[in-house]
Amino acid sequence: MNKNVAVDELQSFLIELTDLALTGKQAHWNLQGPLFLTRHEQLDTLVNDARLWSDEVAERIVAIGTPADGRVATVAEATPLTAFPAGFVADDKVVGLIVDRLDVIIERTRERIAALGEVDPVSQDLVIGIQRDLEKYRWMWAAQQH
Ligand SMILES: [Fe+2]
Repeated sequence: MNKNVAVDELQSFLIELTDLALTGKQAHWNLQGPLFLTRHEQLDTLVNDARLWSDEVAERIVAIGTPADGRVATVAEATPLTAFPAGFVADDKVVGLIVDRLDVIIERTRERIAALGEVDPVSQDLVIGIQRDLEKYRWMWAAQQH
């Protein structure tokens, strides 16, 4: 196993999932509009899964012998996700904001899965499972766009 490649791929995934969890809460709190309750709850479901996924990814990094870095400064510096807009967010705008962020993570994770397949099939298996759920969330959020 090329440990460095595996850790790099997992560490960048940890950063993206941590950002997703924080962003989901930001949206959950500041949502406004007639679909508030549905999307408020949907966002928390996504946040809960993003936290579980980030925990699994971090623990995989440590299991292969490297410390995980989930510090807020690290996430802020390295995340590929655009900063979520400050302030209240309308329930019809939040859908696109979440889909856009899921798209970035999903696209990067497609490449990540290919890279991990070369070096560590066990880490790859973990990431494939998370990708399946990310793509399911992406579908369910995108289906609400009109
Ligand atoms: Fe809440």
